[in-house]
This record gives sequence, C-alpha cells and structure tokens, in this order.
Amino acid sequence: MNVDLLILHAAQVLTIPPAEGGPQRGHRLGGLGLIEDGAVAVSGDKIVAVGPTRELAAQAQAEHTLDARGKVVMPGFVDPHTHVVWAGDRAAEFEMRIGGAAYLDIMNAGGGIMSTVRATRAASVDQIVEQSSRRLDRMLAHGTTTAEAKTGYGLETGTELRLLEAIDRLSTLHPIDLVPTFLGAHAVPAEYRGRQDDYVDLVIDEMLPAANARRLGALYCDVFCEQGAFTLDQSRRILERAGELGFGLKIHADEFEPLGGVRLGVELGAASADHLVVTPPGEIDLLGQSDMVAVSLPGTPFGLGQTRFTPAQAILDAGGILALASDTNPGTTWCESMQMVIAIACRYLRLTPAQAIAASTLNAAHAIGQGNRIGSLEPDRQADLLVLGVPDYRHIGYRYGVNLVETVIKRGRIVVDRR
Ligand code: NIG
Ligand code: FE
Repeated sequence: MNVDLLILHAAQVLTIPPAEGGPQRGHRLGGLGLIEDGAVAVSGDKIVAVGPTRELAAQAQAEHTLDARGKVVMPGFVDPHTHVVWAGDRAAEFEMRIGGAAYLDIMNAGGGIMSTVRATRAASVDQIVEQSSRRLDRMLAHGTTTAEAKTGYGLETGTELRLLEAIDRLSTLHPIDLVPTFLGAHAVPAEYRGRQDDYVDLVIDEMLPAANARRLGALYCDVFCEQGAFTLDQSRRILERAGELGFGLKIHADEFEPLGGVRLGVELGAASADHLVVTPPGEIDLLGQSDMVAVSLPGTPFGLGQTRFTPAQAILDAGGILALASDTNPGTTWCESMQMVIAIACRYLRLTPAQAIAASTLNAAHAIGQGNRIGSLEPDRQADLLVLGVPDYRHIGYRYGVNLVETVIKRGRIVVDRR
C-alpha cells in the first residue's frame, strides 16, 4: 500500500488502546498497547496502520519516512480543561499569594477572575486571539494537539460572545483543535455583587440562548460551583437550562469546598466533573457508577502552593474514569505543558507514568466527546501524534521542567520539528 508518511523503528509506540471500545476505567487505566521497534503509517489526516516495523515496512511504501530509532511515539496530548483564552496577566497576584493571601480572598476583594475580566473586556477580539495564540503555540510545542477552551472572562453577554468568536478563530487558524465551552457562570461580576440570582437569570435568559444561537458545532456549558462563585442550586438551574438547549455539560466541582457538584453532574448526565480535590467518599463512589469523566487538574493545587490533590487512587478503586488536564489560566496555574501536569500527577496523585499518559490522551478525549476520534493510535483515527526524544515512556513524568517532545504531527502534517 502507498501511504503519505511512515514512522519507523520507534523504540516504543504507545497505542493507548480503548478498553472494551471506551475509556480506560478504574484500574484498567495505564494500558499502553506498547509495540517495540514500532511503526505508524499515515495517509492524509488519518492513521492507516500501526504495528511492528518489520510488518509495516514490508506492506507500505511512503513518500516521507521518519526514523524514530531510540524514541517514543504516542498520541498527541488532549487537554480537556483550559481557560486559555484571556487578555493580560496576574503576576502581581502571584506575588501576593506567595506573601500569604488566599486565592478566594483575593477573588472576593475584587481581584482574581474579575481582574482578568476587566483586562479581557477592554481588549479587542484581535488582541485576545493574538495573546492566546502564543499560548497555543507553547501548548503545541509541548505536545498538546487538541484542547478544550472555556469562555468566562467576559461575564457579560457581548464579551462572552466575543470569547466564543475568539475560540472559533483560534481553532481555525491554529493547528490545535479547540473544543469550546461556554462558562458565563465563572464568577459573579462586580456589578452584580449582592444580586447573584439576577446574574444567574442573565446567564439563563440571555447568555445561554445567545451562545446557542451562534454555535457552529458541539458546545459545552460549564459552571464554577464553589463557595464565592455559584451555589449548587444556581449551578443546577444553569446546567438544566443548558441541557434543554442541547449543550454538553461540565462542572467545576470540589476545588476548595465540597458543595455536591459531582452528584449534580452525574444526575444531569454531565460529560465531566473537574478539579475534584475535596470530593467526599460518597461522591467518589458515584464516579465509579457513572460514565462522567473525573478530570483532575493537579497543576492547580501545585500552582497555588497547596498540598492536597485529587484522591486519584480512591477514584480508580471506585472504578471511575480519570483524566488529566492543565487548567491553564492566568490565576491559579499558567502552565501550557501536559508533560508538567503528568510530572505533578505522578508524584502527588501517585499515578504511574503509564496511567498518567492514558489519562492525558484517551481518557482526556472522552472528557470532551472525542474518545472515538483521537487519543489513541489505531487505524481510522485522526493522525495526531508525537515523537519524543526519549527511549522509554517512563521518562515522561520522571523528567520535568524541560520539553521532551521533538516532533508533533497534527492531522498527518508535521507542525513542530525540534530535531
Ligand atoms: O479552574 N476555578 C475557576 N477557574 C479557574 C481559575 C480561573 C482564574 O483564576 O482566572 C480554575 O482554577
Ligand atoms: Fe478551571
């Protein structure tokens, strides 16, 4: 057979196979489908074959070949939770937090999310796209080939719609595919202080229908269910309305205080519940009984200098579907590297490198409804893959603070080449 690209002689190809056609649930997490001296054949934007080099080299001729001797080949990272589209920065708040100020206290004093909202409202769509595009460049260079991207720094109908427009434009112009999420309920904006329910009404009556009317494809709706942000009842009202309009659902749950977000997410059929740092045991059990993906963001407690992380072992014991994401945002964690997220997850969630890799590819794809298209190297899936300059996958997680990715292939095309 004739193919466009043949990657040959990889020390290890990690295929990350689906488990019974789906995500790797519970302790099945970490299935690598490892092939030594492996090869991958790509035609157009699709994978056409994966197997030992001696088999593929005999079957396929290619226009381009890539010698991956001594290297690891794997699916591109999928980052299923980011707030990557914003303007400005909050370096001064980082310094305040080092000095002892708490994240929620800064937020309640009018800083935090509201500070980025002011900068984002003042920026043009072009400026937002330009600044966010630099971040996507770094994500891509570090191996992320698909990411979710939330609004939530507008908190007024016009700016929230401009953020959706920015996400669409970025997804079109940048190699990274973005899956959009409407997060109008990220914080109660300053002008609605003391009138929280009026803001919830605005989200439900005006923003959700407006976001729905301009939607181009799949669109999620997320809510920051948290003390100082939105109560469980307010989160329910927003997500129920979004569900009626056909949005996929997500919820920020148990980042600081346990408000019951996991139970709500399961009840409403949410695709994922994210953060899950202080999730109570009863709700961890629920994760094991549902198809809702538990998305852990270990860069966030790390970014805040905290010592408590997602109880990942308990989630796996319960049989839950665990995924990892970066949460990239200007407040708690500005980190575009899933390699760094994995390094933190190995140490503080006690995931093995194999588990962390599967949680950042196949399971992460399931958290954004892409589990049958990406996240795994098998025929007919999109050809999003990485070549890492390491001889063994366990270098991922073991080494940190440097970029191990050498080559990034997106939809069959080489888009990053650092050899
Ligand atoms: O996921 N928790 C809410 N949102 C972000 C933080 C956003 C910000 O501080 O700008 C998070 O950590
Ligand atoms: Fe978040």
